[in-house]
Amino acid sequence: ALRDNTTIIVLGASGDLAKKKTYPALFGLFKMGFLPKDVHIIGYARTKMDEAEAHKRITSYIKVNDDETKEKLEQFKKFTSYVDGAYDQDEPFQKLNKYIEGFESKFSGPGNRLFYLALPPSVFIPVARGLRKNTYGKGINRIVVEKPFGKDTDSYRELASAMKEQWSEDETYRIDHYLGKEMVKNMLVLRFANIALASSWDKNSISNVQITFKEAIGTEGRGGYFDEFGIIRDILQNHLLQVLSVLTMERPVSFSAEDVRDEKVKVLRAIPPIAREDTLLGQYVAANGKPGYLDDETVPPNSPCPTFAATTLWIHNPRWEGVPFILKAGKALNEGKVEIRIQFKDVTQGIFKDIARNELVIRIQPNEAVYLKLNTKMPGLYTRTIPIEMDMTYKRRFSDQKIPEAYESLILDALKGDHSNFVRDDELDVAWKIFTPILHWTEGRDGPAPRPVPYPYGSRGPKELDSFTGKYGYKRVDNS
Ligand code: BG6
Repeated sequence: ALRDNTTIIVLGASGDLAKKKTYPALFGLFKMGFLPKDVHIIGYARTKMDEAEAHKRITSYIKVNDDETKEKLEQFKKFTSYVDGAYDQDEPFQKLNKYIEGFESKFSGPGNRLFYLALPPSVFIPVARGLRKNTYGKGINRIVVEKPFGKDTDSYRELASAMKEQWSEDETYRIDHYLGKEMVKNMLVLRFANIALASSWDKNSISNVQITFKEAIGTEGRGGYFDEFGIIRDILQNHLLQVLSVLTMERPVSFSAEDVRDEKVKVLRAIPPIAREDTLLGQYVAANGKPGYLDDETVPPNSPCPTFAATTLWIHNPRWEGVPFILKAGKALNEGKVEIRIQFKDVTQGIFKDIARNELVIRIQPNEAVYLKLNTKMPGLYTRTIPIEMDMTYKRRFSDQKIPEAYESLILDALKGDHSNFVRDDELDVAWKIFTPILHWTEGRDGPAPRPVPYPYGSRGPKELDSFTGKYGYKRVDNS
């Protein structure tokens, strides 16, 4: 449940993440009436700003297009303030502590604090330490952290143990914002509340699965930053692997955070590290008037960093043995889309010829939908079959419902103390084990780095992609 007398402290308040995601989500929650009573929100960052400037900066990403929002925003500002200070000294955190106490003393009971670290990884540890030492409250304290959680198994473990000296697992909320997306949350219901799906959810019925992330924009402006990570670390190791785990885990004993995460860890542990031969790497080049990845001046010349990757994972357990799970992600492609595509096996041929496979598609974004491709008889006095779509598009089916933003959903969970949609330490450890060897290979740490294949900006990806998915048994369902 939500606790009254809560202070939310956004560290890195003047940064990109806070402006684009954290503050709009906090405002969204307030607007919908989901913030605790007696809440106070404090932004903290190094930039010196007066109150008016801070408000302007913080709310610059909030869209105000009606009177109600305008009014709400004025109310929101009243319990939002800003404090500037360094990240690596005790004194500013002590000052912050005093400042928080000033609000807490106005309300009854011990003050609860939610620290939200919208910060670059270089200051994670000093800030976690400084807060624990100087700004720890008398009520319930929680800390929300954002990726990157390390760069491979070793660096992750180092970071995790430094964090654990300060904050317990129970106090820690590691965000993977994909777990807050409506469609990803729907996976548990689709899978475990529908016997029609549950009984065909295995290697006997399913031929192959693809989890795809496509972005239509390149790394414009942040190429230098991206180059340190690459697409595998940016998207596959976290977002797509999380989607894979909720798609494939066994039914949890309950929907409690620990039961759900136990099952996720179990399925992840059945996945061996990704093999080089199960990997296709790409890098976009200039096309359609858009620059290539290497044309960005902040990117090191000739960088081997992949901006596209397709990798196939195998789950060695009785349910999934032999089913390829293809994770693919790319920047600067022909469209922006995230979806799960489950392709079922062929039916026994004989009475039919060339019949298409069934496919269940869960479109995570944009335009959330679940649709199932089924074969049907073409109406008429002849026998022809055609694949059709049974389509549940949210806009049509749930036209009155607002789909919450991932960050709204996750911040609310953190305020309630629900860990279900946050990543547990052991989950991350396995995730890194699966990806570390392939990452080291792409970075040239075990010999020369492989050269990603070029693909034009705005295309579907490397031209090798179709033969790559074909190799794992994917057959395009053509219903034109
Ligand atoms: C972030 C990545 O984690 O996710 C970005 O660092 C990416 O590179 C973003 O653009 C995608 O999130 P969403 O919610 O827009 O799909």
